[in-house]
Amino acid sequence: MTVLANDTLLRALRREPTPYTPVWLMRQAGRYLPEYNVVRAKAGSFMALATTPSLATEVTLQPLERFPLDAAILFSDILTVPDAMGLGLSFAEGEGPRFARPVRDEAAVGALRAPDMASLRYVFDAVGEIKRALKGRVPLLGFAGSPFTLACYMIEGGGSSDFGTVRKLALARPDLLDRLISVISRAVQAYVQEQVRAGADAIMLFDTWGGLLTARGFERWSLASMRGVVEALPAGLPTIVFSKGAGDRLEGLASIGASCVGLDWSMDLAAARASVGDRVALQGNLDPLTLLTDPASVEREVLGVLAAAGPAPGHIFNLGHGIVPATPPEHVAVLVDVVHRSTTRPA
Ligand code: CP3
Repeated sequence: MTVLANDTLLRALRREPTPYTPVWLMRQAGRYLPEYNVVRAKAGSFMALATTPSLATEVTLQPLERFPLDAAILFSDILTVPDAMGLGLSFAEGEGPRFARPVRDEAAVGALRAPDMASLRYVFDAVGEIKRALKGRVPLLGFAGSPFTLACYMIEGGGSSDFGTVRKLALARPDLLDRLISVISRAVQAYVQEQVRAGADAIMLFDTWGGLLTARGFERWSLASMRGVVEALPAGLPTIVFSKGAGDRLEGLASIGASCVGLDWSMDLAAARASVGDRVALQGNLDPLTLLTDPASVEREVLGVLAAAGPAPGHIFNLGHGIVPATPPEHVAVLVDVVHRSTTRPA
């Protein structure tokens, strides 16, 4: 195993003191970087890019060449798993993801199987290639969608403003949703285990749509399945769970065995810390639109997030959701610099 030159992220995930607050950004590789758009155009499509390990490696490293970020995140997508289950994923230009064969009825759920991990080999190959290219500079995060968030896209057949089909199914056929989540959970467990075997240093679960569920539904479909994924990982492997709109559900999220809970921008880090105590690290939570303002506003808002996080170890600076494509890269440079500069303390 390579020794990491910069392991501040892994230390912060264990709530150990670090020389400064580590920072990385959700969607740090992506369309706000002109060099990403060049490689993306060369590849022809997002999926062509994601399924070619050498290109996935190249774009994973791009943000690290520009900014002194404290982690790399695998360039891929949460929807690779349902794609491997035969749902037929495509990304229409400017429209977001689409599945040709959504899973909406008894027959479709019954026919669904956890995929053979061999069909996702391109992902594990990318993890291995990125690890080699990083040469131990910073840790590599692997990731997966939470079983419930994957179910949202699989049932709805794509993105949605309210995922009404999913919520109605949860209310009318909870048994069917149970069965669907259980197949997806097996797939996600195997998927993250393989990423770790290929070299991922930590795993993040994106529960983007867990916040849409009722409190009881959240326990039953979002939390329970994420606990299963966390438990399937090697003991001691750092894990981050991110639920958007989970406001009053932090207690639950902090209790599934993950090392860290990611907060969206609507939440207050100080209140979150008070509610979870020192059980978990916290990640977040600058409003991504801050990066569309100006350097002075970026600096002020970053300092506000750091003040809310407080001096205790166990904060990982991040946005409260993914970077938006219109973000000027110079503002990202300001963000990373302010986080590092204003938190540097004696080791
Ligand atoms: O953070 C990173 O830099 C790693 C790569 C990453 C991507 N998607 C690349 C991507 C990660 C971690 C994701 C996670 C993901 N994907 C989530 C969970 C996080 C969140 O945003 O809530 C979700 C819900 C998806 C599904 C998805 N993928 C959508 C809705 C879209 C279309 C929206 C958009 O931004 O275009 C994607 C496509 C996608 N995934 C892109 C990237 C860089 C843009 C595709 C392109 O280049 O055209």
